[in-house]
Amino acid sequence: MTKPTLLSGIQPSGDLMIGNYIGSIKNWVKMQDTNNCLFSLVNMHAITVEQNPEDLKKRTLDIAALYLASGIDPDKSSIFIQSHVSEHAELAWILNCTAYMGELNRMTQFKDKSSTHAQNINVGLFSYPVLMAADILLYQADKVPVGADQKQHLELTRDIATRFNNRFEQPIFKVPEPFIAPTTAGSRIMSLQDPTSKMSKSDANTNNFIGLLDHPKTILKKFKKAQTDSGLEISYDTVNKAGVSNLLTIYSVISGKSIEQVVKNFEGKMYGHLKVELGELVAEYLKPIQDNFYRIRKDEAELKAILAQGAKQAKNQAQATLQKVQQAIGFVLP
Ligand code: TYM
Repeated sequence: MTKPTLLSGIQPSGDLMIGNYIGSIKNWVKMQDTNNCLFSLVNMHAITVEQNPEDLKKRTLDIAALYLASGIDPDKSSIFIQSHVSEHAELAWILNCTAYMGELNRMTQFKDKSSTHAQNINVGLFSYPVLMAADILLYQADKVPVGADQKQHLELTRDIATRFNNRFEQPIFKVPEPFIAPTTAGSRIMSLQDPTSKMSKSDANTNNFIGLLDHPKTILKKFKKAQTDSGLEISYDTVNKAGVSNLLTIYSVISGKSIEQVVKNFEGKMYGHLKVELGELVAEYLKPIQDNFYRIRKDEAELKAILAQGAKQAKNQAQATLQKVQQAIGFVLP
């Protein structure tokens, strides 16, 4: 039996934070043995917002090293930089001719980003979900493990694939299934200072997130400062106790205990206890990942060799799909 294909990616648009880890990487690591996995550094997506070129280069390699440091194994999975596989851009153009302006206009991420980057509402920002559809459909992916914020983009990918397939007698694309954990399992980690909005790696206020490479003292300080309510009881209630509930979710995912168990452990204790214990737990959990990161990041030649190998494997699969698409739509093949 062939293994299902799984694809996911992260934009090098900021330093990785704990929401990215819990919402995506942590799940990827577990899925590597039973799936044919491809994990991308989607740098073409990142430039929809202006990036400093040196920072973009460094962050792309940092995130690749963090994939490895977290347990993504290049012997099991292909790790690659999106721009190394030019088929992504080629398929995106073809899919641009299948996607409708109306459906892209409804994307909430586009609406959010065009309000935060009002002076740079570029065409790429608008058609970004089409590039994301190309990323996924190129590999005939069965599953796409992501956080809850990507649900709308995945629904659009499915619509584009289905519409494209319907033009032909034989389906060209596999219609992928989203793999999104429940929110109690961390698919939507919230900002520490504003627990009504999601934690984001591109947030200008670094107190809003725990960076995967944050120093233990910084981690503790950020959790201690996290916004909670004026109540006293530690309980899970995302409406009235959004801040505490977010801390409980992080505690539960990182400790491997259920939320009920965690709430029980903190019975009769104060918010301050939860914050300190959580800070210590997360710092200890991240320590081996950080140690691995600094070791792996030192050998840039080896890191680039892993990425070159990953791109080669990805390109093989991407070329086959692109050719199938080109043939179907009437492009003369060379
Ligand atoms: P990006 O780079 O914003 O985020 C990377 C992954 O982290 C998840 N995530 C979160 N999970 C839980 N809580 C949070 N606060 C949180 N913030 C981010 C995201 O859901 C994502 O899984 N468009 C994508 C990148 C992309 C992609 C793809 C993903 C491009 N092409 C193809 C999958 C397949 C994005 O902007 O993710």
